[in-house]
Amino acid sequence: MDRRHISTRSNTVKRRHREELLQQRGSVIWFTGLSGAGKSTLANALEEWLIGHGKLTYLLDGDIVRHGLNRDLGFSHEDRTENIRRIAETAKLFADCGVICISAFISPFRNSRDMARSIITDHDLFIVYVSTPLEVCEQRDPKGLYQKARQGEISNFTGIDSPYETPLAPHLTLNTADHDVNACVRQVVDLLVKSEVIPPLSAKL
Ligand code: ADX
Repeated sequence: MDRRHISTRSNTVKRRHREELLQQRGSVIWFTGLSGAGKSTLANALEEWLIGHGKLTYLLDGDIVRHGLNRDLGFSHEDRTENIRRIAETAKLFADCGVICISAFISPFRNSRDMARSIITDHDLFIVYVSTPLEVCEQRDPKGLYQKARQGEISNFTGIDSPYETPLAPHLTLNTADHDVNACVRQVVDLLVKSEVIPPLSAKL
């Protein structure tokens, strides 16, 4: 497509003004892991913690976004890549708003997570790998989808007949089989403090 005639504009209200208003740094906390690994649970608990401490967040979750923005996409390699591209572009807008955007998608492919990183930038993106093993996810099977995948009722199911490529250098790895939700949230909060997304807990939040 020819974009030569689409100009870029510079608004007078900048990201830093919004961040000053919100007393936080716009960022994207990107949970990745298998279906049933606990991404949505952790994302939700993190959001509750942050909102409870006066921080502005927005949660993008696979099961919700796939009913709206990405309702035209399935689970082929190509569709999953487009799913992640749109999420990354959306998350980038939230970060520019000064919001702490929490995203919870399987995002199984290294290439598409790298693409997300190049869209959102290294500075604003924190990858959290929810490393719950396949056996545990399959045993939990909260939506009964692993069983359906094993029976051949669903194809291209991550972990069964579609790969999950583990992140090589995530900012944080959380194993929900070993740690409870609060302990995991605490680790993410520590990362956000260390990275100056939110002020130290001793400071006024
Ligand atoms: S992603 O691979 O494109 O990142 P996304 O996180 O948006 O996936 O959606 C995953 C959710 O869709 C799962 O938690 C599950 O509820 C549902 N789902 C339906 N079909 C599949 C499938 N073939 N593989 C994985 N998840 C599926």
